[in-house]
Amino acid sequence: MMSQTIEKVLQGQRALVTGGSSGIGAAIAYAMAMAGAKVAINYLSDSSAAQNLVNKIKGAGGEALAIQADISQEQAVENMFQSVIQTWDSLDILVANAGIQQDAAFTEMTLEQWNKVLAVNLTGQFLCAREAVREFLRRGVVPELSCTAGKIICMSSVHDVIPWAGHVNYAASKGGLLMFMKSLAQEVAHQKIRVNGISPGAIRTPINRTAWETPEAEAELLKLIPYQRVGDPMDIGRAAVWLASDASDYITGTTLYVDGGMTLYPGFREGG
Ligand code: BGC
Repeated sequence: MMSQTIEKVLQGQRALVTGGSSGIGAAIAYAMAMAGAKVAINYLSDSSAAQNLVNKIKGAGGEALAIQADISQEQAVENMFQSVIQTWDSLDILVANAGIQQDAAFTEMTLEQWNKVLAVNLTGQFLCAREAVREFLRRGVVPELSCTAGKIICMSSVHDVIPWAGHVNYAASKGGLLMFMKSLAQEVAHQKIRVNGISPGAIRTPINRTAWETPEAEAELLKLIPYQRVGDPMDIGRAAVWLASDASDYITGTTLYVDGGMTLYPGFREGG
């Protein structure tokens, strides 16, 4: 990870990253810690992965804690926020990152698979963002830390605009998230809260291992990526630091596609 290139643009701010113990979430947690933020790493079940990341961040001179919660459960989310806010007095940044896939052909998809993906990817972001906004409004702007009262980053996907056969629950959750993010941004902008999305393309993480783990699979995947490389979690980590920092003040209600051009309809380079 390229921590040496990260400036301390989040010094003293307090961030919560849901789904922070692996994949994209872990890279964001690490990048934000290297940018000077105290980082609460939320995890569902893998406490040792979360603790390892805490140790790695502390080893690199940062500050972090691990916190368990199922972010699709209202009470668990409220408890998590209460605990982080008690520990660090407040919260400045929420990265609503936790997300899952439960893929199935449409006619085979169970109601359980549908509900589970919506519960984590969409309802979970609602529950977390609501707690974050409540805290941002309670505290207001602290100019020494940031010119905003708070920032929310909604982790979405290129599949908030690219339809995805075999994944209708996932694509529907991300499409819903796009309007959730924009509507919330509209509602709280006058309160100095910025809400934005990041939509990663194919990033090398456990969620899509089958898409890159063999050379054949990776070659197929690269046909969808004009920039001709699979993304690295730190590609998202660096984007998230910037989007949470005052360097991106005046940006709200926007989605940053960090996808090596996946949303550029690569099939049309020659076709059409
Ligand atoms: C999915 C990955 C997929 C990528 C690009 C992400 O949102 O979680 O499984 O590789 O989109 O299709």
